[in-house]
This record gives sequence, structure tokens and C-alpha cells, in this order.
Amino acid sequence: MSWREDAKKRVALQAVKHVKDDFVVGLGSGSTAAYAIQELGRLIKQDGLQVMGVPSSSQAMMLAVNAGIQLTTLDEHPTLDLAIDGADEVDKALNMIKGGGGALTREKIVASAAKQVVIVADEKKLVPKLGSTFKVPVEVLGFALATVSAGIKELGGKPVLREGKGKVGAVVTDNGNYIVDVDFGPIDSPEELNLGLKFIPGVIETGLFMNIADIVYLGKQDGVIKLER
Ligand code: A5P
Repeated sequence: MSWREDAKKRVALQAVKHVKDDFVVGLGSGSTAAYAIQELGRLIKQDGLQVMGVPSSSQAMMLAVNAGIQLTTLDEHPTLDLAIDGADEVDKALNMIKGGGGALTREKIVASAAKQVVIVADEKKLVPKLGSTFKVPVEVLGFALATVSAGIKELGGKPVLREGKGKVGAVVTDNGNYIVDVDFGPIDSPEELNLGLKFIPGVIETGLFMNIADIVYLGKQDGVIKLER
């Protein structure tokens, strides 16, 4: 296993230590959150941990089913005790870019419903400014693709429609929408940009996650960095 993969696993295990009996947990998406889902499953089987999970994507849902985690919904549990998720970029203020896996909308809803949000990633995801290494994913209603793209250009971004791997044409999200990945370069005011994007009719959600994370565990080659809000 490469050091990055090992670091992802270590931080996932660290995050799962925040889970207590009877918690309803938001289950994040992506390869790092997958380790946390696996670990939750192990604790359920081996230690009798009692938890339920709300998955943030079809990927998380399938992993949770395989791990033996009982699933529930936001309708039944609109407030979650904890959410654990990955990130594509994190800055020192704990703001993030997410959505590399296309699950940004449900991830934001699930994380916003949680009393505490723990983010897990390797240290390469820590950046001085959001947008330095990763484009901002924006989920867009298909009907509005052209008008949203024009609106994004007015905000200074370069949108590119996300295309599938293993499927020709556009990626369709779990919500039946498209994703555009937008190059804004390093972002000076992510909060302002997030609001600007959300004002464009047809934008479903943005991958700018502001004031959502409470704790971020960043896996290093030789340990773990903990950032806290
Ligand atoms: C999914 O849409 C994303 O927000 C993921 O949380 C993010 O891409 C992190 O994924 P990895 O843990 O696989 O890097």
C-alpha cells in the first residue's frame, strides 16, 4: 500500500473514533470515506456498535450495505450526530472544495445536517488557497447548462462539462443532473464566489464547502495532523 493510501486509512480510523453507540452517522463518499465506512462495519460486527448511517451517494449506500450498516434517511433523522467525509482541497480555515466524486450536493446536505463534521484526507489536500490544485465542481440542472455556463464565465470561471469514464457523454449525478468543473484559479473570496454561483438560476449546488467542517484529519507519511475550528 502506498503511503498516501495508508495515510487515508489511518485518518479514516481516527475519524471513526468519534462515533458512539446509537449515533446516526452521515456517510461520506470517495476513497477515504470508504475506509471509514469499512471500519464502522467492522466495529458493528466485532464490537456490537449500534449505529445507523445516512449515505451521501449511491457509492456510500452500496459500501454501507456491504459493510452491514443499517441505513436510514434524513426524513427519519433530519439531525445527524456526526458526518465523516473526504475532501479534494482544504484550507487552514477548514473550508473545502468537494465533489471530485460528483456527490457534492448530497454531501453538503448530509454534512449540514450533522452536529459535528469530521473530514479525512491526506496532507496533499491542504492548500494555501482553495482552487490552487482543484477545479470547483458545480452541479447544474441539464436544462440550464448553457445559461449556467455563461453565468459562470461572467464570474471569471472556465467551466468544463464533466464527461464519464466507462460511459460516453456527460456524467449524470445521483440526482439526475450534470456537473461542470470550473477553473477559477486560486480563489481569494470563496464565500463570495459560492454565493455568486448559487445566485445563477439552474445551479443546484457548488463544491465550495464553507464553515461546514469542524475537524479535519490530514494523514502524513509519518503521522496525522488535526485541524480544528
Ligand atoms: C465526492 O464527491 C468528493 O467530495 C469526495 O469527498 C472527494 O472527492 C474525496 O475523495 P477521495 O477521498 O477519494 O480523495
